[in-house]
Amino acid sequence: MKKKNLIIFGTRPEAIKMAPLVKAFLKNETFETKVCVTAQHREMLDQVLDFFEISPDYDLNLMKPGQNLYGLTAAIITGLQPVLEEFKPDYVYVHGDTTTTMGSSIAGFYSGAKICHVEAGLRTFNKLAPFPEEINRTITGHIADYHFAPTQTSFDNLRNEGIPKDNILITGNTVIDALFESVSRVDTIEDHEITQLKNELDFTKRIVLVTGHRRENHGQGFINICEALKKIGEVVENVQIVYPVHLNPKVQKPVYDILGEQKSIKLIAPLAYPAFVWLMNKCELVITDSGGVQEEAPSLGKPVLVMRDTTERPEAVDAGTVILVGTDKAKIVNETIDLMGNPERYGKMSKLHNPYGDGKACQRIVKFIENLD
Ligand code: UD1
Ligand code: UDP
Repeated sequence: MKKKNLIIFGTRPEAIKMAPLVKAFLKNETFETKVCVTAQHREMLDQVLDFFEISPDYDLNLMKPGQNLYGLTAAIITGLQPVLEEFKPDYVYVHGDTTTTMGSSIAGFYSGAKICHVEAGLRTFNKLAPFPEEINRTITGHIADYHFAPTQTSFDNLRNEGIPKDNILITGNTVIDALFESVSRVDTIEDHEITQLKNELDFTKRIVLVTGHRRENHGQGFINICEALKKIGEVVENVQIVYPVHLNPKVQKPVYDILGEQKSIKLIAPLAYPAFVWLMNKCELVITDSGGVQEEAPSLGKPVLVMRDTTERPEAVDAGTVILVGTDKAKIVNETIDLMGNPERYGKMSKLHNPYGDGKACQRIVKFIENLD
């Protein structure tokens, strides 16, 4: 009898980081592997499924405009019941720290499957930042049977919470697997978004790439971020700020209200993963509050300013590949001006080693599961 895997994800970053694992398991004939998407995100998830050519076996199609945590959590748990009862997986794989992650690990546990947590052990030890992700990943960590920790720090966090060491494997982050697979493809594929970027952006300018969406930055945080970007657009000579704006209405409104008319700022729709990787490779600097982007950009030699006060990714700060600037307007502006005006500092930062892995995380996960009785 083949071991049965159910890989569950729902948002854009989970899809990017689980795509190489889906491929690795589908290639391995000792497993029967199925994919279930909650579709906590819709358009932004579908962009990833298209690029990696993944057709989910189950699609709960849950996203509602302006959804809230209560309804979404409940819908994920109840929506998964028939899927789990029909397929009866031995192993359920969840990723990271979203509502999909937490809800799916609870539902998978109820079904009797073993829970495998990919990107396990990240912690800030502050339950309000990131909100609600710190609690999502902590709950998932205590439900999970097997923990795939990206780094030694995340391994240590799990050990300190009493997780047995034989149930944890340090793998590197699967985001690097996805990036390495994609970066070689993006220069050769025909992609209408990349063509559009080539036509619409001015590559004689200094490109700063921005993303942002974190819930704890909604409200005043986003107002500060936008004010800072506006200032950077005014004072840094020859700059072009490119910002693919997350579809959350709580992000769209302040960003378009404050930055919609700025000459040096180009607001665009979220890019599909290949175009985003292509642009990341072409830019000079990344400013973001995203988890995934700060893990990827250093592999392309791009310094990252992280608009958060606290981080579950201290390895990047220690390695010097990212700088935490919070959502303080002056700090964002000053660090940007300093880094863009100081070629020596910039050059040093862009050459530092990325601590998030070697692109073989998925290989290690598959082997670990293969070796279980
Ligand atoms: C979610 C995750 C967050 C993750 C982020 C990645 C939770 C609580 N939050 O936050 O951990 O870092 O995704 O981007 O799990 N929307 C669309 N189309 C889409 C996606 C979103 O219209 O394809 C809009 C909808 O109005 C939706 C809203 O954005 O209701 C919020 O989506 P949601 O997944 O609840 O929150 P995110 O802020 O995206
Ligand atoms: N990304 C993308 N298109 C965009 C912006 C980001 O494909 O317009 C990718 C990016 O390469 C990274 C992931 O989305 O892999 C990060 O997602 P997000 O910032 O939404 O979530 P987080 O990582 O913070 O959970």
